[in-house]
Amino acid sequence: MAAPEISIASIQNGLNTRFIGQNILYFARLSSTMDAARREAQGQAHEGTVVVAGEQAQGRGRLNRTWFAPAGNIALSLILYPEVAGLPYLIMIASLAVAQSIESVTGLLTQIKWPNDVLIGGKKVAGILIENEVKGNKARAIIGIGINVALQPAGIKEISSIATSLEEQLGKKISREEIIRKFLEKLEELYIKLPYSAFIFKSWQSRLVTIGQKVTAVWGKEIIEGTAESVDETGALLIRCNDGTVTRIVAGEVTLKK
Ligand code: BTN
Repeated sequence: MAAPEISIASIQNGLNTRFIGQNILYFARLSSTMDAARREAQGQAHEGTVVVAGEQAQGRGRLNRTWFAPAGNIALSLILYPEVAGLPYLIMIASLAVAQSIESVTGLLTQIKWPNDVLIGGKKVAGILIENEVKGNKARAIIGIGINVALQPAGIKEISSIATSLEEQLGKKISREEIIRKFLEKLEELYIKLPYSAFIFKSWQSRLVTIGQKVTAVWGKEIIEGTAESVDETGALLIRCNDGTVTRIVAGEVTLKK
């Protein structure tokens, strides 16, 4: 059975925010919500505007990867205009808002894998892509959120062993509108605390499954092996390498060793 369209009226019904999600644009099918949101931002869309796709044909992930978002899942991008000083914290607030909204609606326990993958039972359920443009001390930030809701990863060989979905975990259907509404509320709650809040950093840090684990970090051609020791307040990961030195990683892919 085809997945029903996402109802914007139902997301906004009871939405308790001042600006995030007060303007939602819905498209049944898009190549990527990131591009549609950027066009809206270039046209001076209000802060907090959200672009939602029923289905995304060419979704992109971090590090130029493909993101699978067929109908039945959540693919959205939202527009923020933060101070430049707030940019490092967007990763933290976006992953916290996704993790908290999933927990609050489904009761499932989530973890965050550095920097911003949301996991359930060690498998990825949601990914976040942030694209920024800076002008003076202000930024135009597009935050892309992909949440696997109805996805059946077993049918997609590229992700079958590393991904999961909410319905796979719960064994029943859930409301995408409810998850999106909660996410928008949580995100606004955290965003208005920027540029810096020790509380945000501590909450994000405490959910990181990466800390204390043996990891391999890959950034371009560089490969770093060691133990993920901590994160600093800019969101960078500090890895204690096998020779005792500490390397600071600001981006890249980190794999947890079994
Ligand atoms: C990642 O984990 O690599 C990030 C995945 C981000 C996917 C979302 S889906 C909505 C938005 N549009 C895109 O093309 N990508 C992001």
